[in-house]
Amino acid sequence: MRLDVLTIFPEYLEPLNVSLVGKARARGQLDVQVHDLRAWARDRHHTVDDTPYGGGPGMVMKTEPWGEALDTTLADGYENGAHDPVLVVPTPSGRPFTQECAVALSARPWLIFTPARYEGIDRRVMDEYATRLPVHEVSIGDYVLAGGEAAVLVVTEAVVRLLPGVLGNAESHRDDSFAPGAMADLLEGPVYTKPPEWRGREIPEVLLSGHHGRIARWRRDEALRRTSAHRPDLIERCDPSALDKKDRETLSILGWAPGPDGRFWRRPDAVEE
Ligand code: ADE
Repeated sequence: MRLDVLTIFPEYLEPLNVSLVGKARARGQLDVQVHDLRAWARDRHHTVDDTPYGGGPGMVMKTEPWGEALDTTLADGYENGAHDPVLVVPTPSGRPFTQECAVALSARPWLIFTPARYEGIDRRVMDEYATRLPVHEVSIGDYVLAGGEAAVLVVTEAVVRLLPGVLGNAESHRDDSFAPGAMADLLEGPVYTKPPEWRGREIPEVLLSGHHGRIARWRRDEALRRTSAHRPDLIERCDPSALDKKDRETLSILGWAPGPDGRFWRRPDAVEE
């Protein structure tokens, strides 16, 4: 996979040399190119922003540096054998970035990130490139960062760990919270490792039982408990056909009841954990 990042703070992307992403680069599974957007600013001061048309606070990133930076990056990538680029534009007004997006992006050979500073990029830039390649405007959460670079790190880490051979154990993302499959749309419950007792705290007995069925059931109940407490919206949205008899019993204990459409609702008398 090839990743290009166009930014006015190239040093912000240093973490891409570390840990999982850094190792994937060192192994040659990932080609990361970080570019300084100011290299494409034409004036003496390397200006990349200007005042907004229509007035208002803050500055807007100018069309020209972005246009030239993107043209150069696209041409260079193609020349170096990269194909089928996707533009990933971090912005608080984008679509929520989810595990589903991470899975979709992990199947693409080439991602180009355009993290913005200030009030964002002149709209014409994305309108122009949307005619040439897919443009994904993504938000990593309902809060406003000072710039999109931290979002690039988030998206990259979520995507790169899904690439074949990047995580040691191919099963490790099977049980991820939000992973498609068995534990779909439930948060992961607690995990434990040695020693079996720490500061008087023991690990749940069932995990020592060696009984795979009981362990799987316990994990599922813990996932339901955690999801009920932290993300009740996920229980409300849960497809009832994905819930077995024991799930329903656990949900009932947690204060949930099926509504007329089969979906679960928190009973008004339920006590929050
Ligand atoms: N840039 C500023 N805030 C952001 C957010 N929440 N997600 C993605 N990019 C951003």
